[in-house]
Amino acid sequence: MLLIRGGTVVTAETAHRADVLCDDARRIVAVGPDLEAPSGCDTLDAGGLLVMPGGIDPHTHMEMPFMGSVASEDFYTGTSAGVAGGTTTIIDFVIPEPGHSLLGAWKDWRRKAEKSVSDYSFHVAVTHWDEKVHEDMATLTRDCGVNSFKHFMAYKNALMVDDDVLLHSISRALELGALCNIHAENGDAVAYLQADLLKRGVTGPQAHPISRPPSVEGEAAQRVIAIAGLLGAPIYIVHVSTEEAAAAIAAARARGQRVYGEVLAQHLVIDDSVYADPNWLGAAQHVMSPPFRPKHHQKALWAGLASGQLQTTATDHCCFCAGQKEQGLNDFTKIPNGTPGIEDRMSVLWHHGVRTGKLTPQEFVAITSTNTAKIFNIHPRKGSVSAGADADLVLWDPQASRTVSAKTHHQNVDYNIYEGMTLTGLARYTISGGKIAWADNDLRVTRGAGRYVERPCFSPDMQAAIHRKSTP
Ligand code: URP
Ligand code: ZN
Ligand code: ZN
Ligand code: ZN
Repeated sequence: MLLIRGGTVVTAETAHRADVLCDDARRIVAVGPDLEAPSGCDTLDAGGLLVMPGGIDPHTHMEMPFMGSVASEDFYTGTSAGVAGGTTTIIDFVIPEPGHSLLGAWKDWRRKAEKSVSDYSFHVAVTHWDEKVHEDMATLTRDCGVNSFKHFMAYKNALMVDDDVLLHSISRALELGALCNIHAENGDAVAYLQADLLKRGVTGPQAHPISRPPSVEGEAAQRVIAIAGLLGAPIYIVHVSTEEAAAAIAAARARGQRVYGEVLAQHLVIDDSVYADPNWLGAAQHVMSPPFRPKHHQKALWAGLASGQLQTTATDHCCFCAGQKEQGLNDFTKIPNGTPGIEDRMSVLWHHGVRTGKLTPQEFVAITSTNTAKIFNIHPRKGSVSAGADADLVLWDPQASRTVSAKTHHQNVDYNIYEGMTLTGLARYTISGGKIAWADNDLRVTRGAGRYVERPCFSPDMQAAIHRKSTP
């Protein structure tokens, strides 16, 4: 057992002095002042530290096969890096290969993820539509603990789905009590703009953001919101990066539609000037979709998080090393899309969010953990510090600083997009499943210690409420 003594417990609602007792069955058994240590119990002094629910990253791509490469970070190294940054649960994406079954892909991902050091769960991507998909969605929700399905409106001729697939899949998910995630970018427009740029001889990574301007995201966000509205279904839009998409979500919510929005830490603090880097690799390392945006978009994202119109933060952690990025040396459309960041999300949000007064510590907990647990139906097991919850905690030092570097990070990738950034606020200890997995810069993880987290579907009552709420 482990008794965490003398810290300030911060949840999405409150902050108060309390001890936290964790048992050997990975659970929190008591939270309160001056708890008695059972005999043989280890104690950890949390004086001066904030005791918060471990971070949940709802958007990662460990060892993802993508654009002719496989992401360099695997479930062991990726969850380890997460733990070093205070993240104790990830929700990764199962991406079936073209023509392969959703269920088969889910089994493949289960196998790949067995080496995780902390807990993990899966969204499953729908990349085409047929009877088998219709059936697999039922099996996955009923028997496999999957309650969310992912759809890419971009990546034409690869992962992209059209409106017809969206209609069928969102409607099916509603029937089953699952939630649809959407990558909102107009993939036809991107493909058209990419071809046009290449035809004009513009082949470098500076063309990447030009091929995916903000309106490409704004249009797709509006379209999928309209489709979900027609069906009376809730949706969750991943990596919202523009004021256009943020406004579309806020407007839908004001109409009573249940639309959730996720923001990536990197989009909050890095802007599109990175593509002007005269060093090809420097720019290519920032090729991700949606791309980094002109600075004014960041204001809308922060405002969305602070106001609650946008609810979660993630990383879209998707790592490609120099040799992999170089696949696109002569053609920016062949640079594997993705950036790393799982280790630094919490610190970036504390430093740039809480320390600047944009977010309260409670809001920080909400957007790094609790809201995700609620939206994906694993609250209060995850995202809370309460008796009965999983013993996944971060003991946060709000005053300590570190300078980010690929030389010292734990991510299995050869660069860090926050290189050289000094961040105040860091995970001093991370507790995963009741065990100390990170202590003062010392990683003490165990390969395979993470468990698969089943996420039950939403109840028929909840679905009925959503339906009533979203249909005029
Ligand atoms: O560039 C990105 N984001 N790569 C990962 C796939 C995706 O779109 O989420
Ligand atoms: Zn995406
Ligand atoms: Zn109806
Ligand atoms: Zn992604």
